[in-house]
Order: sequence, then structure tokens, then C-alpha cells
Amino acid sequence: MTDSMALTKDTRIALNDGNTIPIIGLGTYASPDVPKSLGEEATKIAIDLGYRHIDCAYIYGNEVQIGNAIREKIADGTVKREDIFYTGKLWCTFFSPELVRKGLEKSLQDLQLDYLDLFIMHWPFSLKVCEINPDKPFVYDDVDFCATWEVLEACKDAGLVKSIGVSNFNRKQLERLLSKPGLKYKPVCNQVECHVYLSQSKLQAYCNSNDIVLVAYSVLGSHRDKNWVDLTTPVLLEDLVLANVAAKYNRSPAEVAMRFILQKGIVVLAKSFTVARLKQNLGVFDFELKPEDMKTLEDLDKNLHYGPFKEMKQHPEYPFHDEY
Ligand SMILES: NC(=O)c1ccc[n+]([C@@H]2O[C@H](COP(=O)([O-])OP(=O)(O)OC[C@H]3O[C@@H](n4cnc5c(N)ncnc54)[C@H](OP(=O)(O)O)[C@@H]3O)[C@@H](O)[C@H]2O)c1
Repeated sequence: MTDSMALTKDTRIALNDGNTIPIIGLGTYASPDVPKSLGEEATKIAIDLGYRHIDCAYIYGNEVQIGNAIREKIADGTVKREDIFYTGKLWCTFFSPELVRKGLEKSLQDLQLDYLDLFIMHWPFSLKVCEINPDKPFVYDDVDFCATWEVLEACKDAGLVKSIGVSNFNRKQLERLLSKPGLKYKPVCNQVECHVYLSQSKLQAYCNSNDIVLVAYSVLGSHRDKNWVDLTTPVLLEDLVLANVAAKYNRSPAEVAMRFILQKGIVVLAKSFTVARLKQNLGVFDFELKPEDMKTLEDLDKNLHYGPFKEMKQHPEYPFHDEY
């Protein structure tokens, strides 16, 4: 638990390599039917509002637009490059050691940036082919993520990325990476799904004990994109217990859902392309949930993954067979 009233939108958490990460970040994933220009507009507005941490990925197909937004806000004097914390993700088809740097360079080229602040392995498994299309199946590959990691370390040494980390790794996978012979840099973070229905307490405890920051995605209950999310799952922001807690504080369920994760000392990502919500989501630093309400929300945990990526269940590196 952090000294939560001391949190502000500008709070940064120390990473194990000496860099820092802003505690709140803008998510930029939107389903393919959403025009990419909306992400560009939202990112510019978000930077104007004070967001400094932008989470994106090659596979979201929008790094050109998000890069445009960042560079425009640098060009108009709103921010300097060093004020922005940009996270990119190595997609699973770039895990072969000879492809890792190419994957990163593709992102840098699309963004037209010289470096990324954070570059993370998007998932622990490698793929030969990935078409996000139900008619074209994924083709598994067997590249060991430890081999991928060594190239990421070299990319950090080359100055192409400030920090390197992972996403969607379970405890055993983190253990394997941490005990890799010759490990030069520990992952600075593990970005995972985390919200009131999936509080990740055990994974957080393990990460804390190894100086790895947990970064939470789908804090608001996910994008509910039918390509990734089972739409029969309950809608998080409609939870009655969450609504009751929110009513006590005269806040929205979204604000309480975010505040809950922040008070656990976890970095929060929240996606919105709507101005009013972008503002609301940045306004979660002027109230504090009492311990009894934190406990009530903790009890909502039911280990629900909105994005279980179940097409990968047969892959040897599928992370969600284990409890955490
Ligand atoms: N590493 C990974 O594998 C991974 C996986 C998933 C996501 N992520 C990252 O995490 C980010 C966030 O996760 P997510 O996209 O799953 O979704 P999320 O942030 O949990 O939820 C986004 C949804 O909530 C709505 N919303 C935002 N603020 C709201 C508010 N104040 N009140 C009510 N509704 C609100 C958004 O709608 P509007 O846009 O219309 O406001 C959108 O539909 C992603 O964008 C991506 O950057 C990473």
C-alpha cells in the first residue's frame, strides 16, 4: 500500500534500472473499426490535459498516428520529448533474435521517435504467423523468450530504449527470466490485466519482492472488443458493489476502479478517446478510498480475465494455466 494521498497525476514510480514511470498512463488500443485518427486526436488532448505516459503497441496498428500526436505536442511547445513516457511492445512474431531489433526499429520509424522509454514483450509466447482474423489461425513458434530478452538488452545498451520489461508473464515465466544465466537487466515491469475482478495480489507480491513494477491494463473492465473479449462476461463498470462504493464518495465507478488500483501501488493504464472521460480519469488524485472500502473492492476478485487470449491455450508458454 502506498501513501495514497501523496499521489498526484505527476507521481512517478522508480524502476529497477534507475528510470521512473508515471503512475497513470493513457491506453491507446481501439478495435479495428475505430478510425485511427481518433487515437491521434485523443492523444493530443490527453497531453494538453497533463497525461505524460502513453501506452501503445505495434499490433494496435496506430503508432503512426500516436507518434504524430506526440511530435505535434513537442513541436507546439506543450511538452519536451523527455516529458513523455512512451511504451511500445514487441509483438510475438518478432521474437526470433534476428527480428527483435527490426520490430523495435519498425515502431521507432512509424512513431518517428529516436527512442522509446519502455519496450516490453507483449506476451511470453512466440508466433510464426498472426492474423487477427478468425479465418486465419495463429501459427505457434517455439522461440525461447530468454533469447529474445538478450536482444532487448542490447537494444537498451544501444540507446534505442530506456527501459525493457515484459507483459502477461506469470510467476514461473518471470522466475525463468530472472534466473537466466548472464542476465544483464531485470525486466523493469510486468504489464498485466488487473482490476477489481482480477486484483493480482499474489503476482504483485512476487513482483514487489523482485523490484518489478506491476502495470495494470483493462482497469475499467477492458475495451470489450469482440475480437479479444468474451462478451458474456460481466461489465465491470456496472458492478453493484463498485457502484455503491462510488456513490459513497460521489464519484463514478470508473474513478473508484482506477483509484483502487492506484492505492495498491500499481501503475494504471486507462483508455479513453472521449474528452470528458480523459479529464475524469486524470482527476482520481483528489480523493482516497478508506481501508474498509479497499477491502470491499478486494473481495470482488474472481480471477476473471477479460482478455484470456484463449486461442493460445495450447501454446507451451500460455501464461494463464497457472493460478498467477
Ligand atoms: N499488454 C497487453 O496485452 C494489453 C492488453 C489490453 C490492453 N492494454 C493496454 O491497456 C489499455 C487500457 O486497457 P483496455 O483498452 O482494455 O481498456 P480500459 O482502459 O479498461 O477501458 C476502456 C473502455 O472504457 C471506457 N472508458 C474510459 N474511461 C471511462 C470512464 N471514465 N467512464 C466510463 N467508461 C470509460 C472507454 O470508452 P471511451 O474511449 O469511449 O471513453 C473504453 O471503452 C489499452 O488501451 C492498451 O494500451 C495492454
